[in-house]
Parts: sequence; C-alpha cells; structure tokens
Amino acid sequence: VKGHRPRAPVRMAIRREADVVVARALSRELALELGFGEGRAGAIETAVSEVAWNMVVHARAGELDLEVVADRGRLGIAVIARDEEPGIPDVETAMQDGYTTARGLGLGLSGARRLMDEFTVASSAGGGTRVTMKKWTHDAE
Ligand SMILES: Nc1ncnc2c1ncn2[C@@H]1O[C@H](COP(=O)(O)OP(=O)(O)OP(=O)(O)O)[C@@H](O)[C@H]1O
Ligand SMILES: [Mg+2]
Repeated sequence: VKGHRPRAPVRMAIRREADVVVARALSRELALELGFGEGRAGAIETAVSEVAWNMVVHARAGELDLEVVADRGRLGIAVIARDEEPGIPDVETAMQDGYTTARGLGLGLSGARRLMDEFTVASSAGGGTRVTMKKWTHDAE
C-alpha cells in the first residue's frame, strides 16, 4: 500500500493489569499512525483491552501481537491474543452477551466482536485460546 512504511509487529506478554494498559496505549498509537480516526482508534483500543484483560482474568501465559496488515489497497490492524490454558469449552456460548464464568458482565468477547471488522476465537477445553481480530482503515477497493 502506497506511502506505508513497514512497521515491525509488536509482541508482548500479558500477565497483569499494567500490561493491559500498555497494550491499550500501543494499539491506539498504532491505529492513529495508520490513519484511523479518534473514534475508530478508540474502538480498537477497547477491543484490545477486553481480550487482553480476559487473559489476565481467565487464562495463563497470555501473549498479544499487534501487526499492520495490507489488503486490496487498504491497511489494517491485526490483533492476536493467545494463551496456553485453560481454554474455552464452548466458544459459541462464551461469545454470547452476558455469558460469564467469573462474575463479569459477559460483554468482553461480544463487545470486541462488534467493535472490529473481523473476529475469530479458536479454543478448546484444556488447550489454549487464540483470538484473532482485524479492523481496516477503509473498505476494500
Ligand atoms: N482467554 C480466555 N481463556 C479462558 N476463558 C476465557 C478467555 N476469554 C474469555 N473466556 C471465557 O469466556 C467468558 C466470556 O468472556 P467475556 O470477556 O465476554 O466476559 P467476562 O470476561 O466474563 O466479563 P467482562 O464483561 O468483564 O469481560 C468468560 O467468563 C470466560 O469463561
Ligand atoms: Mg472479559
């Protein structure tokens, strides 16, 4: 994509609240750099916060990647959150509004899905969870 300087992916461990704060800030900065407006950068920041916070609350050994992706003349931000355990036995149920196993609001995954253009959760009980999400600066050409 024209005018875009390649940017190295960012990878960080997510273990505690302070890591979530850094992930939020980095995702916002990257989004603004890519040309997302304030509101859409805020949406990305919120989605990143939810999946990162889920790794702190529900999982072990969380890692988060932030990457710039390009497709058909547009740029996007890709976020991959992955952890090693305990996994989600029923992803479809976990994605529903209001479903929580931890006295949360159960709006993290469903909210993140609404805020991003692409959203996939791969997980299994006993394994880990991988959430992949993308948002594009504009529609495909
Ligand atoms: N990384 C993860 N590892 C294991 N389980 C997870 C993970 N992320 C989400 N879950 C499961 O999916 C459920 C729904 O997640 P979601 O983020 O929507 O709600 P929540 O975290 O319970 O509450 P909140 O609204 O505060 O985010 C969680 O309660 C938990 O059971
Ligand atoms: Mg949550």
